[in-house]
Amino acid sequence: MRMSVIGCGYLGAVHAAAMASIGHEVVGIDLDERKTSALAHGVAPFFEPRLEELLREGVDSGRLRFSTDMADAAGADVHFLAVGTPQAPGGQAADLRFVDGAIAALLPFLRPGDVVVGKSTVPVGTAARLAEDIGSTGAELVWNPEFLREGWAVHDTLTPDRIVVGAGPRGERAVEVLRTAYSAAVSTGTPFLVTDLATAELVKGAANAFLATKISFINAMAEIAEAAGADVTLLADAIGHDPRIGRRYLGSGIGFGGGCLPKDIRAFAARAEELGRGESVGFLHEVDAINLRRRDRAVSLVVEALDGTVFGKRVAVLGAAFKPFSDDIRDSPALDVAVRLRGLGAEVVVTDPAAIGNAAAAHPQLAYELDRDDALRGADAVVLVTEWDEYRREMDPERTGALVARRVIVDGRNCLDSAAWRAAGWAYQGMGRL
Ligand code: UGA
Repeated sequence: MRMSVIGCGYLGAVHAAAMASIGHEVVGIDLDERKTSALAHGVAPFFEPRLEELLREGVDSGRLRFSTDMADAAGADVHFLAVGTPQAPGGQAADLRFVDGAIAALLPFLRPGDVVVGKSTVPVGTAARLAEDIGSTGAELVWNPEFLREGWAVHDTLTPDRIVVGAGPRGERAVEVLRTAYSAAVSTGTPFLVTDLATAELVKGAANAFLATKISFINAMAEIAEAAGADVTLLADAIGHDPRIGRRYLGSGIGFGGGCLPKDIRAFAARAEELGRGESVGFLHEVDAINLRRRDRAVSLVVEALDGTVFGKRVAVLGAAFKPFSDDIRDSPALDVAVRLRGLGAEVVVTDPAAIGNAAAAHPQLAYELDRDDALRGADAVVLVTEWDEYRREMDPERTGALVARRVIVDGRNCLDSAAWRAAGWAYQGMGRL
């Protein structure tokens, strides 16, 4: 099939490359010339495992190209809308400026029978509004939310857990077009769920709200465990064995960040207010508050571990990305902790295997070291805030101890072997963990 993918960020670039890899002819469109020219050379503008391999394959095969000109979307049968919907400046709701701009730019190139596929995360009701304009061209709009995780984006795009397609009353043909577009996944038994437009939009918001709630639930338990002298990681293991609960997303620590969960729960709650149902998701404000409290707690644990003040102390911060296998620092709890420690007068040195470039551009006031050992050298305290394998698995307590000035470590992801660190003479402090 001939396809256009509008918006080449974390979602669109991966989607374009993945669609080309399963045999479609794809043009990716983005206003940012630097991004499209990098992608056209097979270079990913962000860290995402396996993406460059797919990009190079696609570009070399001639099936994948990139452009800044919306006119290049003309002639495609399927147009995926994959632009960002960030939090509106000064508000909680989603900023739909890029969605509206992209659709306005695409309209003149749509032909009767074309299918426009919304993938961006939008407040419920957006699709119905856009469908009117799109319908006037004879094209059809369907909504097909994306559930990929950064760091696993290629895997999640090629082998999704499920495909959800929301369509309007006359959307049957468009749904079948999409079923064909995704036939590689559908033929292996991936559930293909057809809904109305509003349900498809809500599915995405509900999924992210549930995941955020699960993380904040375990972090609330971490607060209780800390007060009661219990261990939240053992608690998570124990409740996680119940298949109705499940162990995944019960990772406690400094909480969630990134370009999705935080802004999506706020936008979801804001939209619910507009619909007169704010109270139905009032708990999401609590989920957000618990999550933000974790960052405060991590900072205070470092202060406590350094006898009440971090002023003038050297603190090695392990991690800047909002999670491992990503260089994304949007709303990163890791960087937030680093910035706050620096605000308290600590001499903060941040290291990260992938995100230092982005972190340094956003927070030039912090010191950075590419090499983990250089960051650790002479530290009065070590704070682990992103659970990269480089820290979680590969750091030896004895060897690390020889580098630092004081054997003090705060494990903001509850991911280290506390017994091994303590045995090597470290003052180990987890978050709600013994
Ligand atoms: C999230 C969802 O998981 C995807 O399904 C969704 O498609 C995506 O948002 C989106 O809306 O685009 P992502 O933001 O890439 O994906 O990252 P996650 O792996 O969900 O992690 C989010 C945050 O939660 C990270 O900061 C991570 O460290 C934190 N987290 C995750 C925990 O604190 N504990 C856990 O147990 C799991």
